Amino acid sequence: EKGGYATFMEKEINDQPHAVADTLLGRTDVEGRLTLDEMSISEEQLKNVDRITIVACGTAAYAGMTAKYAIEHWTRIPVEVALAHEFRYCDPIVNERTLVVSISQSGETMDTLMAVKHARELGAITVSVCNTHGSTIPRESDAVLYTHAGPEIAVASTKAFLAQITACYLLGLYLAQLRGGSFADDAAAVMKELAQVPAKIETLLGQMGRVREIAKFMADTRSVLFLGRHVGYPIAMEGALKLKELAYIHAEGFAAGELKHGPIALIEPGQPVFVIVPSPTSEHGLHGKVVSNIQEIRARGARTLVIAEEGDEAVEPFADEVIRVPATSPLLAPLLTVVPLQVFALWLSTAKGLDVDQPRNLAKSVTVE
Ligand code: BG6
Repeated sequence: EKGGYATFMEKEINDQPHAVADTLLGRTDVEGRLTLDEMSISEEQLKNVDRITIVACGTAAYAGMTAKYAIEHWTRIPVEVALAHEFRYCDPIVNERTLVVSISQSGETMDTLMAVKHARELGAITVSVCNTHGSTIPRESDAVLYTHAGPEIAVASTKAFLAQITACYLLGLYLAQLRGGSFADDAAAVMKELAQVPAKIETLLGQMGRVREIAKFMADTRSVLFLGRHVGYPIAMEGALKLKELAYIHAEGFAAGELKHGPIALIEPGQPVFVIVPSPTSEHGLHGKVVSNIQEIRARGARTLVIAEEGDEAVEPFADEVIRVPATSPLLAPLLTVVPLQVFALWLSTAKGLDVDQPRNLAKSVTVE
């Protein structure tokens, strides 16, 4: 059942090329146009959407935060991401032109379910991005877009996360296509690139030996920081969450631009910091800005563990370790950059002799508010 791996977590991390490929499967017609047949909401209704609110908890919320960048870029519809338990009780601004997208692997998370019910009462259109057929949240929603990650057994989410990002991207491209305009033309190009991602994840998984080694020697580490910018920001937070959940290590993810506004005070000699470097092709010179951040923390003694695209030489002088990921367009990079962070948490947890699949105090799906 674990496919020859010692833990479900390791198996599920290695399942990720399939999780993404299967989620993409059958969702385009012969011309490469998105179809999303299962979206049982009229095109008319979807064309009228003027704002999107994503509700989710934990890892699913980080998938939502990642998707926000892509959906806004492609559709120009404002996207807000709310933790489901906060959304429900903050008098949310929602009406019949609001698309409320819930993301949940299990489809049973009570906080998320309550948020969806509340959104429906307020008249919103509700779509569930879910991995579990026949679960409650899709039943309570107007439409469902299933992620096809397959059953996820390990408590900490990995392959469902990649599938959630993929499904949300499909939704964004679909909305862009419906609305027409300049980004609609890009949808086909993005789909082509998405189709290449599973093979890139496969390649990346084959190069994780060094990450495993780094983790093995960090069993005594008490705190790890994660920096990322743009789509790398939610990935930094997801990397930190994985480490808290699996290895019980204090970890925090920051937006790299925020460094100088506070977190840099935490840097002392030997502090391990993962930095997710934007692709050199990112807009607005973000790559250079993050490379400067690496330089700044290195100068203060940080141990820099840098995740950078293949061929990005600019990071070399300031990195204690460079973890390479295959090149892809900036918005798709999270499907790759998160993988070394999952692998790191897995092997650090293992090095500490912990129960990787069932971390203390956590449940796979929390069915109480
Ligand atoms: C938490 C799980 O309790 O619920 C996380 O431990 C998960 O791994 C979160 O991300 C949300 O779960 P779901 O099923 O709604 O995606």
